[in-house]
Amino acid sequence: MIRWLVRALAPVVALAGMGGALAAPQSMVWLAPGAQARVVARVGPTPQAAARYDPAQARFAADARLVALGRELFHDARLSDPPGTACASCHNPGRAFGPDLRRGLQAGERSPGTALGSRPGHFGTRSAPSLLYVRYVPRRYFYQDDDAPAPVVFGGLMADGSADTLAEQVRAPLLNPDEMNNRNPAHLLQRLRANGVAQSLVGTFGPAVRSRPEALLRALGTALAAYLQSDELAPFSSRFDQHLRGQAALTEAERRGLALFKNPDKGNCASCHSVSDTASRPERSLFTDFGYEALAAPRNRALTPNRDPRHFDHGLCRTARQLRWPEPEQWCGYVRTPGLRNVALRQSFMHNGSLKSLREVLDFYNTRGTDPRRWYGNGALFDDVAPRFHGNVNVNSPPINRRPGMPEALSDAEINDLIAFLRSLTDARYVGAMSPEQPPPAQKR
Ligand code: HEC
Ligand code: HEC
Repeated sequence: MIRWLVRALAPVVALAGMGGALAAPQSMVWLAPGAQARVVARVGPTPQAAARYDPAQARFAADARLVALGRELFHDARLSDPPGTACASCHNPGRAFGPDLRRGLQAGERSPGTALGSRPGHFGTRSAPSLLYVRYVPRRYFYQDDDAPAPVVFGGLMADGSADTLAEQVRAPLLNPDEMNNRNPAHLLQRLRANGVAQSLVGTFGPAVRSRPEALLRALGTALAAYLQSDELAPFSSRFDQHLRGQAALTEAERRGLALFKNPDKGNCASCHSVSDTASRPERSLFTDFGYEALAAPRNRALTPNRDPRHFDHGLCRTARQLRWPEPEQWCGYVRTPGLRNVALRQSFMHNGSLKSLREVLDFYNTRGTDPRRWYGNGALFDDVAPRFHGNVNVNSPPINRRPGMPEALSDAEINDLIAFLRSLTDARYVGAMSPEQPPPAQKR
């Protein structure tokens, strides 16, 4: 089933033209089902690939029975402790498999910008992404461009790449005290044996799921991954997709927005949020290159751990330390670039849920450099990254390469066009669920 996780061929190939004295180990890795890459080196346990991953190469062979089982588990609120929180509670199929931040709130309670877990008052510390198209996220890999000084990392799940595969990822929400709150794998097994969930997996995965916590977690991971990889979660039915197929025209405003999105001197968005509007393959327009960047989103002061001024969520460097990549601190502040399909449904934005509307995100890109106090107050610049890592923050890519006193990259009218374009990335069945478009501010601060 998960053969692409494990398979790595390692034939030894003699290099021609080197007197036969040198032999290079050559191996292959599956970055996604169907998408194989040649490994040229390793960074700790992580492969360095000879070429960038192309999501259009990924192929998903659905096992209908496993998909159905995964769908049931995804909606099963018995997986949480106390029961009541399913995967679907935070990844709501009616909201593009993203969260409804109003879910479960008590009267007068406000979401800090993240989703509520299984216990009252316990909210996650990161914002839950849409799971549509998540099957295209490759495993972690390094790649070095010809003109790049060092290899850089792509892929892996979660904002910090802490999970390599969908099957492995399920441990995180199941065992997170602020999400599904199972104390440990043994406790999960005990609970799922008592409530009958484990028994329902025996037919597919064998009796070990009732006695071995790791076998149970593997079974849950395999079934949930099969569901998340099914076509149900990759509809490609947005107006933008119709435009790619030549079935519908974008409006004037959306076309101007797309041009600004691609223009390296204006939005420059496509340099990280990949789009290929000339390719008919929509997988080439997932609006992320799966790479990592440090944009220094403002600190979300409503998150519980942030009450401690010394606490920082530094994203990728935690994973880098765990995997023993060299110089892990160079990755502090980096988070994975999210895809932007269905982004108009979101109620909070960025890994920490700090921004509340698409217009606020666009204003952040446009004025982070020219008016930093608007985002960070009078205190420290880049207030959600510890000062010793401020050198990691991207200050070179337009439109965030500005300094105070310089002109902004985008006008209010251009921001309106970019928002119109982003709204055209909404899949057909969610068009009615989009957040209302925020009107532009009456006056600029
Ligand atoms: C309480 C809310 C909550 C629940 C319940 C929950 N998730 Fe999540 N999910 C999140 C958050 C928050 C993130 C982002 C975490 C991060 O970036 O560190 C996330 C991330 C993910 C990702 C990675 C997506 C990506 O693009 O990297 C997957 C896959 C996922 N969840 C699947 C599941 C599955 C399967 C379940 C049920 C077993 C589940 N989630 C239950 C909140 C939740
Ligand atoms: C240098 C790379 C880069 C550029 C350029 C860039 N982005 Fe991003 N974008 C990111 C990263 C990384 C994040 C995640 C930041 C975080 O979570 O803190 C992000 C987050 C976002 C989000 C929030 C998505 C979510 O689910 O919360 C939106 C919307 C967005 N970008 C739109 C744009 C637009 C529009 C442009 C052009 C004006 C743009 N981006 C330019 C890398 C980039």
